Amino acid sequence: MLKEINEQPKSVRETIGSRIVPNSKTVFPDLNLTKEYLSSINKVFIVACGTAMHAGLSGKTLIESLCEIPVEVEAASEFRYRNPIINEKTLCIFVTQSGETADTIAALKLAKSKGAKTLAISNVVGSSITREADFTVYTHAGPEIAVASTKAYTSQITLLAILAIHFAEILDKNLEKCEELKNDILLLPNQVEETLKTAEQIKNFAQKVYKEKDMFFIGRGADYTVALEGSLKLKEISYIHSEAYPSGELKHGPIALIENGVTVISVLTNRLLVEKSISNIQEVITRGAKTFIVTNQELNHEFDEVIKIPKTNSVIAPILSIIPLQLLAYYISKEKGLDVDKPRNLAKSVTVE
Ligand code: G6P
Repeated sequence: MLKEINEQPKSVRETIGSRIVPNSKTVFPDLNLTKEYLSSINKVFIVACGTAMHAGLSGKTLIESLCEIPVEVEAASEFRYRNPIINEKTLCIFVTQSGETADTIAALKLAKSKGAKTLAISNVVGSSITREADFTVYTHAGPEIAVASTKAYTSQITLLAILAIHFAEILDKNLEKCEELKNDILLLPNQVEETLKTAEQIKNFAQKVYKEKDMFFIGRGADYTVALEGSLKLKEISYIHSEAYPSGELKHGPIALIENGVTVISVLTNRLLVEKSISNIQEVITRGAKTFIVTNQELNHEFDEVIKIPKTNSVIAPILSIIPLQLLAYYISKEKGLDVDKPRNLAKSVTVE
């Protein structure tokens, strides 16, 4: 897992590949979606499982903000059994590292049978899902072996970002925003490298908290989606119970569980939401919580641990802000003496229901 965490500068770089060329339109040779088709779409579904579904949540923000088409993200196991409203005006995107997840493949077949176009995002060339989908685009993360997905997630968001730009370019929408975002994406591989330098600081923090029973992850907007993924990583490999909540929802329940010494992990990368989130963090500090903050903002407050990461556009910030949380889960698991790469009860790909 650590090897794969450290490979992320390369996997993000490879996923960008030649899809973004400065001063020209994004290129996807295997996708021939026309302006006429994309203009007819009134709904996008992103369907996936586990970490891939969390990457899909970033895809929603990206497609909605650049293409102005509503996007719904759903777990494949729910989607396949609830008779979702789908027709030829629906584009369904299926995100799967392995391309073999049974629920995701079944969900794709359902969408296809209802007349939607289906687009698979996979990391494995020729995997089962790619044989079923109308179109496939590949992340180029390289083989991912550890059960807990890391580099696949950051590659999936990178690819979803480039896809969202691609759709917006075809639709002639938000072209200026697209140009800015392309430049920001090109900076990511070096920024990922920079973010990985926080490892030592995170290892030290892990040594202080590895015996804890519960942890909480909070954030707003894109930071909340990273909280979900950080919490999943932690429970998968360290067996610590954790919950992820939108910061503003704390007061509707989880704050009842905050007491002296509980660790609350917050992600703060959106300038517009930072003050709101800080007031939530103050509330948990008042109740005795220990605070671990991942941020790219200048903060004038006292926290137990602050992990500084590079600044980028908030819609792609999860590619950087997840890295300290991957490292935290990794070092906590190591500290507990667990088998990081093969956590109990979990499989790398779930090919049966
Ligand atoms: C399993 C793995 C996760 C993965 C999920 C979806 O639960 O342990 O790491 O995110 O399946 O897998 P997929 O191959 O479809 O992305």
